[in-house]
Amino acid sequence: MARSYRLIIVITAAIAFSAAAADNSDVALLLERVKPALQGVSPPANAQLVTWNASTPLCLWRGLRWSTPLGRPLHCDSPAARANLSLARDPSLILLSIRLPAAALAGHLPPALAAFSSLASIYLADNSLSGPIPLDLGNAPALAIVDLASNRLSGALPPSIWNLCDRLSHLRLHDNALTGPIPDPAGPNTTCDALRLLDLAANRFSGSFPPFLTAFRGLQRLDLAANRLQGPIPEGLAAIPGLNLSCNNFSGQMPPDLAAFTPGSFLGNSPALCGPPLRQQCLATPSGLSPAGVAAMVIGLMASAVVVASVSIGWAQGRWRARRAVEEGALETTEDGAGGEGKLLVFQGGEHLTLEEVLNATGQVVDKASYCTVYKAKLAEGGGSIELRLLREGSCKDAESCAPAVRRIGRARHENLVPLRAFYQGRRGEKLLVYDYFPGHRTLHELLHGDQGRPQLTWARRHKIALGAARALAYLHAGHGEAHGNVRSFNVLVDECFVARLAEHALHRLLVPSAAEAVLAAAKADGYRAPELQSRSRCSPRTDVYAFGILLLELLMGRRPSGDLPAAVKAAVLEEATTEVFDAEVVRGVRSPADEGLLHALKLAMGCCAPVAAARPTMAEVVRQLEEIRPRNSSRSALYSPAETRSDAGTPTAAV
Ligand SMILES: *[C@@H]1O[C@H](CO)[C@@H](O)[C@H](O)[C@H]1NC(C)=O
Ligand SMILES: *[C@@H]1O[C@H](CO)[C@@H](O)[C@H](O)[C@H]1NC(C)=O
Ligand SMILES: *[C@@H]1O[C@H](CO)[C@@H](O)[C@H](O)[C@H]1NC(C)=O
Ligand SMILES: *[C@@H]1O[C@H](CO)[C@@H](O)[C@H](O)[C@H]1NC(C)=O
Ligand SMILES: *[C@@H]1O[C@H](CO)[C@@H](O)[C@H](O)[C@H]1NC(C)=O
Repeated sequence: MARSYRLIIVITAAIAFSAAAADNSDVALLLERVKPALQGVSPPANAQLVTWNASTPLCLWRGLRWSTPLGRPLHCDSPAARANLSLARDPSLILLSIRLPAAALAGHLPPALAAFSSLASIYLADNSLSGPIPLDLGNAPALAIVDLASNRLSGALPPSIWNLCDRLSHLRLHDNALTGPIPDPAGPNTTCDALRLLDLAANRFSGSFPPFLTAFRGLQRLDLAANRLQGPIPEGLAAIPGLNLSCNNFSGQMPPDLAAFTPGSFLGNSPALCGPPLRQQCLATPSGLSPAGVAAMVIGLMASAVVVASVSIGWAQGRWRARRAVEEGALETTEDGAGGEGKLLVFQGGEHLTLEEVLNATGQVVDKASYCTVYKAKLAEGGGSIELRLLREGSCKDAESCAPAVRRIGRARHENLVPLRAFYQGRRGEKLLVYDYFPGHRTLHELLHGDQGRPQLTWARRHKIALGAARALAYLHAGHGEAHGNVRSFNVLVDECFVARLAEHALHRLLVPSAAEAVLAAAKADGYRAPELQSRSRCSPRTDVYAFGILLLELLMGRRPSGDLPAAVKAAVLEEATTEVFDAEVVRGVRSPADEGLLHALKLAMGCCAPVAAARPTMAEVVRQLEEIRPRNSSRSALYSPAETRSDAGTPTAAV
């Protein structure tokens, strides 16, 4: 008996369910499927979504536009309509648009968005929606405008998105966390004729340039910047005025039809992207042209016959540099003779390097520190550039104790870390570290405190730099508790897209005590040294956190750290002038320092600089907090015309 009883319950439940589904009026769909999804699980009811309820007249539901079944828009201007409670029970009303930008939505996108027969536009930018873009969205019958920029959407872009091509005019997915390749449309010869704007920038899309996009003839703007796309750029994009392919990893020769564009559309790609409008020239590789002809200087540690020849036939400047190199002890004599070479240890990504190639590279001095000299060096024809750090003699421990530390440094791989590719140890004890060379990179120190043609450093850009550096440190600390040991703005390289890369990680492990002390003394003079780091005590993750706190203060305040930044902040707080500590460029365009996370960042930096090491947060915690206060630099998207924004005046923009 009990069994059949249960069966009945199941059947009634099924009937009840189909009855609810049968009431698939737009109002019911919105309340049952869309509202709970957008709201998310967090308990405080969303201030906008709470208005979508049966005890509020439909005309006061925020962010929605409706039409009557006859296709006439529902006019909500009259007081009668605005007070009409029965409208919300009218099953014939049709939803036209959802517009809730910057409304603190914290849920996900429901598949039910595809179930509205006439929903033409969705504007949900600048929220905290997470999860994937539902596959069903591509089945929405009337969708023409989709703006989901600056959310936290992840996963792949479903190929069904191109099913919208009949009507789709704007697709904005800027600044999310979408991954994988940009999917091909299902049908061949899809041209998406109505599509004017396609903005997939600032995600994590990978793979090659999607060739089908060249067939989208209506595009006025195509923004794929700041992704991880690679390979060549195809021909056929010249008709798109607003093209931006910057900050990817595109390589190869620029197609000739793009020569008239500004370089600003292609910056920050692989150094192997070349040809006009970029300044980087494609290497013609005619055989017979000797690299000696373009040699500026040689840093051969053992001067072979070829090396000597290239110096002696070099032009005046080359000779001067060579002489300087000899004075520095970089250019050794050939007493080893043939076969007396040292050892080259190569790490992942450095497999192609040979000893001969490294030692015969031609280059120039770019920096000198107390314990090493830094060179930018060019490998022989077509081999690209590398960065070399020559440790001064006496600065490094003996070979046996050095090797394990070098191997650990060589294993570290993170996108915000300058990777060590090889290590050379000569017979006379000279040590050479081979790193990737990043063209177009500048040190953070130069960006913040230099004055030569520096780009604008908004809070959003500084935040990106800080987060990149923090991630690299968190990676080092998590791996095997390895400290960086020398966090300072000189050691943060920043590319054209404001991606930060930390240089010189863990070099302190290669230094003899006297040299390590010299580094610490410099860190103290520069203001980065944690109080507990008296000479001879060991660098640790906690001392890195302190130095990072100073670096973050340097970013926020725009001041050199040598003048005790934490003390300056404390003084300002006591005088109730906290907001005055921020660099003018940081607060420009910021509505309120609290809203944009600036105050939170300042507190975080001060926490990192706590005098007691145990009170400092871990780098993992720092990363988490920085991610939480990610500034929304897109504030208002291009899709909101002033008139549309005004009609939304009843929707107060909630702070995220
Ligand atoms: C319905 O909306 C009004 C605001 O329009 C709000 O004050 C009220 O709490 C809401 N009721 C429910 C049950 O959500
Ligand atoms: C309120 O809306 C209902 C349903 O659309 C409609 O039948 C009714 O006439 C409206 N009442 C007023 C006073 O406008
Ligand atoms: C796609 O276009 C090519 C060349 O324009 C044409 O040969 C082919 O028949 C088209 N395919 C379809 C399914 O329309
Ligand atoms: C960039 O692309 C090249 C191939 O063109 C690849 O070898 C390299 O790993 C890529 N770099 C990054 C950072 O993805
Ligand atoms: C292209 O995008 C990058 C990164 O978003 C931006 O910095 C650059 O100004 C853009 N260039 C153009 C020409 O719009």
